Amino acid sequence: MRRPVLAANWKMHKTAREAEAFADAFLPRVARIDDVEIVLAPPFTALAALARRLAGSRVALAGQNVNPEKQGAFTGEVSPPMLVEVGCAFCIVGHSERRALYGESDALVAAKARALLEHGIRPIVCVGETLEQREQGRTAAVVGAQLRASLASVPAERAAELVVAYEPVWAIGTGRTATPELAQEVHALIRARLGEQFGAAADRIPIQYGGSVKPENAAGLLAQKDIDGALVGGASLEAESFARIVRAGGAP
Ligand code: PGA
Repeated sequence: MRRPVLAANWKMHKTAREAEAFADAFLPRVARIDDVEIVLAPPFTALAALARRLAGSRVALAGQNVNPEKQGAFTGEVSPPMLVEVGCAFCIVGHSERRALYGESDALVAAKARALLEHGIRPIVCVGETLEQREQGRTAAVVGAQLRASLASVPAERAAELVVAYEPVWAIGTGRTATPELAQEVHALIRARLGEQFGAAADRIPIQYGGSVKPENAAGLLAQKDIDGALVGGASLEAESFARIVRAGGAP
């Protein structure tokens, strides 16, 4: 079945030295947990140092963004082969901050997801509605459309390598978490849409919840049938806090 994927999205936090210090504190705390996938997504500048610290552990490394091209005149960008060489097994794409602050479209997210798969990196594709869209009763339509367009170029035979993250925009960094029931409702809808697009492979795609996940609310969310992990921002910056969230995703 699906293995839960617990991922730390550090956003623009932690230098390389700070990332190493996190790894030194974090690895002993999760050494005995083997039934979940644990992923750290630091800023690009900390990837190499963190990769050295994580070598030999079961903790995987992720990029927070990628350019779909292999190389070229794209100042400030990082390509899939660069992420491969530094040791990334995953990469976040389509985070709502990138969609809102940097104007990323579903089409660009789809190109990134496809490019990552071509290089053997598992994309963590983020979708989620704004508060206004939820209040207008448009959650299902918005999330369904984002999902279809963001995964448009993923071939069905590669679908099982995807991770989808449902992150309601109103819950990100606000301390306002979706209730487990409310999150499960959208996760079930996402699973159904993935089934329409990819058939049986949909059952193998982990769907993470993200948005103010904390040690205190992780277990309730992760107990839901279609919630297969978490994408954690603020509460992943401190080793004990993220380790507690990872433990909540492990076997009871
Ligand atoms: P948060 O961020 O846990 O700080 O709400 C989650 C995310 O943006 O991935």
